[in-house]
Amino acid sequence: MSVFSDIQRPVVVQARRELVEGVLALDLAPTNGRPLPPWTPGSHVDLLLPGGVERQYSLCGDPADRGSYRVAVLREPDGRGGSAFVHDVLAVGDTLRVRGPRNHFPFDPGGNQRTVFVAGGIGITPLLSMVQAADAAGADWSLHYAGRSRATMAFLDQLAGQPDRVHVYAADEGRRLDVASLVDGPAGRVFCCGPRRLVDAVDALSVNGWTVHTERFEAREFGPPVWPDAFDIELALSGSTLRVQPGESILDAVEDSGAVVVSSCRVGTCGSCETPVLEGSVEHRDSVIGPGGAGQTMMICVSRAAGPSLVLEL
Ligand code: FES
Repeated sequence: MSVFSDIQRPVVVQARRELVEGVLALDLAPTNGRPLPPWTPGSHVDLLLPGGVERQYSLCGDPADRGSYRVAVLREPDGRGGSAFVHDVLAVGDTLRVRGPRNHFPFDPGGNQRTVFVAGGIGITPLLSMVQAADAAGADWSLHYAGRSRATMAFLDQLAGQPDRVHVYAADEGRRLDVASLVDGPAGRVFCCGPRRLVDAVDALSVNGWTVHTERFEAREFGPPVWPDAFDIELALSGSTLRVQPGESILDAVEDSGAVVVSSCRVGTCGSCETPVLEGSVEHRDSVIGPGGAGQTMMICVSRAAGPSLVLEL
């Protein structure tokens, strides 16, 4: 995790531009004139909006530009108001705070592996800088980009110079993306971001030596937890033990105890509540580590104990 990930900083809206129908690009510059923290392809920031609203947006500008962060915001008519605020209220010259950057979707452009990028709609945003890095590294890459229509698909203009590598699937032109056809031939790796159905389909492609890396904007769907009962969590740093009830999240239990922990999306997609696990077995029910994930951390907003107790480094 980046050392910058929990730090909030004020930024000013330097520019805003409608990229395509319903997608707005914002350039956010530091208010103190100092360089912004560096970021790598796949990173996102949290925008901290009025009323305690937080939204995560992938960085889609140039990683070498330390003078501003660029994000692209899709207007979500059925959303909870964050994108509507950005589209309808936020103006050039306004200030807001950002947290991050944080990268749970890292990309290494090196090596000779065949690399297939799969984007659905606004899912192009974390992939754009990966595509540029892969191209700069001379990698063997292709991008398969699906959307409702070209009029709604951001960054097609930036990608137009690579017609042999960039494949556009606009539903209103009758072109449909068959993800299974992407993994024939020599094994390689897939990087995908987009709507749940697309990412689910790509996640199922981890076969024949292919590795799959995905990022989700929408929470995964899960059945009942493997440990359906209450469980205990010991907070190793404070020495207290809390009981987490069925239907209650660890994050809620910890906050109710008065402890302060960083969180943002609360649905398992942003990674900000990642917490070290010292003992116990975890059922990962988030979209960052995901089912079957190993490692020594968990997303406490949605992931749960897979047994009667856990010890967390909190
Ligand atoms: S708060 Fe976003 S993953 Fe937990």
